[in-house]
Amino acid sequence: NMRWPGLLAAYKEYLPINEQTPFLTLNEGNTPLVKLERLSAELGVELFVKLEGANPTGSFKDRGMVMAVAKAVEEGSKTVICASTGNTSASAAAYAARAGLRCIIVIPEGKIAMGKLAQAMMYGAEIISIEGNFDQALKMVRNISEQEPITLVNSVNPFRLEGQKTAAFEICEQLGFAPEILAIPVGNAGNISAYWKGFKEYAAKKETRLPKMFGFEAAGAAALVHNRVFENPETIATAIRIGNPASWDLAVSAVQESSGRFDEVSDEEILFAYKKLASSEGIFVEPASCASIAGILKNIKNGSIEKGAKIVAVLTGNGLKDPDTAINSSQTKVIRLANDENAVTEHIRGVVLD
Ligand code: F0G
Repeated sequence: NMRWPGLLAAYKEYLPINEQTPFLTLNEGNTPLVKLERLSAELGVELFVKLEGANPTGSFKDRGMVMAVAKAVEEGSKTVICASTGNTSASAAAYAARAGLRCIIVIPEGKIAMGKLAQAMMYGAEIISIEGNFDQALKMVRNISEQEPITLVNSVNPFRLEGQKTAAFEICEQLGFAPEILAIPVGNAGNISAYWKGFKEYAAKKETRLPKMFGFEAAGAAALVHNRVFENPETIATAIRIGNPASWDLAVSAVQESSGRFDEVSDEEILFAYKKLASSEGIFVEPASCASIAGILKNIKNGSIEKGAKIVAVLTGNGLKDPDTAINSSQTKVIRLANDENAVTEHIRGVVLD
């Protein structure tokens, strides 16, 4: 039987699973690790990407959410809640539907990508949009979950990081070793903390090396780079539009213990990487994911990443999540012609075959 069983079954020895924990799954995990052939040659490095947009709801959040929702079921909870820039809410809503729980999501008005909103609506979540940002929404749901019989499934729930650490295991298994550098977008800073936990646990069991953790924030929301809260975070990469990351201390430890670094990338650098990945590698991911690639480009240029380095960049979410940014930032024009084969042929001869 070659069917992938999903994360809880595949990694049960590494996860907080007991006889009471349901094996909830949408067969998440086991995502592709793709070598970027063209970019590797161009940059003189060995660059692989972990395609987390291949998960069931299109982002890495499914790894943490399957664990957190399974534990909520185990504890007898009937309702889960989260604040979200979009992906966490899509994932929470899907796994809650799968498990038969209610799901409440709180999102920042006007700042969540259309695909993510469509998902939460279809999975049947209760959707509350506030005139505030993610940090304010998170503060709200943390308080509410302490007063009401509702389980919080943001990454401050430790089961989220337990599930998300499995991506580090997969990378080590897919490569046969840990990379020298793990490049990852940083928003609320849960994922970089989860990967570091995963690499350390894997290294302890299998004696693999540990990577240096390179965490990349958007320049308009770069709290960890500047060691200060950003009260009004802004970036085109709405998924990481976060000014006061909840896993601040864990993320700082990950970078310090691994001799890695935090760095920031501008929206222009993010959009450049976004277009380059799609047009020269065939890989379409959402803008926030491209912070990892933009960060690698920047750090190769300034000498912080050496030639020949073996790098894995985490691409956290699918490009289809945010069709508006794709259409608005692409230079590609749609040619409108009559329903006339001659006109179409003439155009093709003029453009493609010359
Ligand atoms: N990339 C994407 C596509 C994300 O959706 C997020 C976070 C991150 C990167 C950053 O990960 O927060 O663990 O540092 N999205 C959260 C959400 C905040 O609500 O969907 P992080």
